[in-house]
Amino acid sequence: MAFYSDELIEEIRSGNDIVDVISGYVRLQKRGSSYLGLCPFHNEKTPSFAVSGAKQLYHCFGCGAGGNVFTFLMEYENYSFKEAMEALAERIGVELPTQEMNARERQEADRRSRVLEINKTAAKYFYAQLRMEQGKQAFQYLTGRQLSQKTMQQFGLGYANKFSDDLYRYLRGAGYDDEILKESGLVTLDERRGGYDKFWNRVMFPIMDVNSRVIGFGGRVMGEGEPKYLNSPETVIFDKSRNLYGLNAARRSKEARILLCEGYMDVIALHQAGFDSAVASLGTAFTPGHASLLKRYTKEVYLTFDSDAAGIRAALRALPILKEAGLGVRVIDMKPYKDPDEFIKVLGTEAYRERIERAQNGFLFEISVLEQQYNLRDPEGKTSFYQEAARRLAQFEEELERNNYIEAIAEKYQIGFENLRRLVGRAAAEGVVPRTPLKSGIHANKPKEDGMDKSQKLLLTWLIEQPGLFEVIRPYLGPEDFTGELYGRIARILFDQYEKEGGVNPAKIVSMFEEEEQQREVASLFHTRIGAIETKKDQEKALKETIVRMKQSSIEYRSTHLEPADLEGLKKIVEDKRQLQEIQKLHISIN
Ligand code: UTP
Ligand code: MN
Repeated sequence: MAFYSDELIEEIRSGNDIVDVISGYVRLQKRGSSYLGLCPFHNEKTPSFAVSGAKQLYHCFGCGAGGNVFTFLMEYENYSFKEAMEALAERIGVELPTQEMNARERQEADRRSRVLEINKTAAKYFYAQLRMEQGKQAFQYLTGRQLSQKTMQQFGLGYANKFSDDLYRYLRGAGYDDEILKESGLVTLDERRGGYDKFWNRVMFPIMDVNSRVIGFGGRVMGEGEPKYLNSPETVIFDKSRNLYGLNAARRSKEARILLCEGYMDVIALHQAGFDSAVASLGTAFTPGHASLLKRYTKEVYLTFDSDAAGIRAALRALPILKEAGLGVRVIDMKPYKDPDEFIKVLGTEAYRERIERAQNGFLFEISVLEQQYNLRDPEGKTSFYQEAARRLAQFEEELERNNYIEAIAEKYQIGFENLRRLVGRAAAEGVVPRTPLKSGIHANKPKEDGMDKSQKLLLTWLIEQPGLFEVIRPYLGPEDFTGELYGRIARILFDQYEKEGGVNPAKIVSMFEEEEQQREVASLFHTRIGAIETKKDQEKALKETIVRMKQSSIEYRSTHLEPADLEGLKKIVEDKRQLQEIQKLHISIN
């Protein structure tokens, strides 16, 4: 999407004063050189959201949100970068160059709208069948599961009858050709058998996007049978990692929190019981795409997953993803029942509401699962448990938050606050350059973010936070040592700015990236904090370790990518190897 020039982007950015823009959303008060207000990205009573006119950046000391004026609109309004550009250009009366849809794009848009039509037509067909004679058994099945007629109607439930090709014929009759029907995922085309339906003799759950357009289906066998649910395949309109079942209704709920469950039936049972903010993923794992979708509508997600081992595993996987997106997470206990549907059937609405009230903090839930892997009656098991807990606690970047969690864990697991805090401090010093990423830590790493990327990211953050470090590291490292594609690009810009302008201009850097994902990632560098390392001595140790690691991996990277004829490159590698040995002997000091 390299569409707008850097100059234009910078013109739009610098023409929109961040304090003005944010004042349109948040009440800001002047404090010293910057402005302070209540953070719009998390719930708080005392202001920790700071906007700097000088830097043209915002930062929340509570939740870590931050970035430039583009980032703000992207986070607050959930705009793409392009949409943020448009809004800000309009705000200052600048006309942006437009781009006509080309023939291919028009064709693509046309295909999408036809597949949407097909899904809608099928939904109506299934809906009607459920209410006819041949749908009687299906209707009874749903009634037997205690769904009211009103609920069935609200969720558009239907029935795919026993004939294996009647939907196909119906849609052909409505004028759709084989090619587009195949794309809808509702029909399979076979050379010998011709077209036949994907779903038959199943209760049908239409899956809708947030705008209540049908984008696919889940179909359940009535009673026992495999597979229990069959789902539409992904199509041009159906992206399972970016849609959630029930969100079209949940988005209108007055509840502030979203209830995230595992199954279609759970969502429906919860809505029927009045918990109208329930949603579920679509027979696939919960993804970051889901989390950012939820972020548009809520700040807090309550997990109400199955109480069995698989449900606990699913919760442990969803937790870091939700936290990474900046959402608060709590976990509702469904025991002794399997899932919310069963729970409500047996214990009723009030009991479920109580469970919501008693939901456990997400981090404490993770620790309580962790606890079960250790034998706390054995001194060794107990020590290992505390150490692992400390490692996880060390990942909270904000001191206040970290201390609150240390306090909670210390109390719950009977260890002195100061003892635990010391363990956490040590874990933080060791953990800046993590050896093995935690499996389900609060910030479980994306697979691509291996140790090497992590050091590069850390050092960039460090340089942005303390530009004085440039002088310290420049003898040892240059932008070419940042071998990651994104980090390399940022490093080149940073070093360049520092050399030419004697300082860094983070707001300008953020908008040099066009892709939304990259923007968010770059912006995240500017509000990551090195908080948890407490003493200067530990910081120096960590800095040196980071420099050494980066140099090592940069040498390694260049050695494996060296062209045989590149004598210059070879010479540089030999030099760097010698320098590396020197650095290892050095004491690096920060002032
Ligand atoms: P569950 O097996 O917990 O089903 O699967 P459920 O929603 O509680 O349904 P009932 O109460 O048994 O009727 C949870 C979710 O996993 C997906 C579906 O999205 C289901 O709602 N799933 C499950 C499948 O996609 N295929 C399957 O075969 C099973
Ligand atoms: Mn169920």
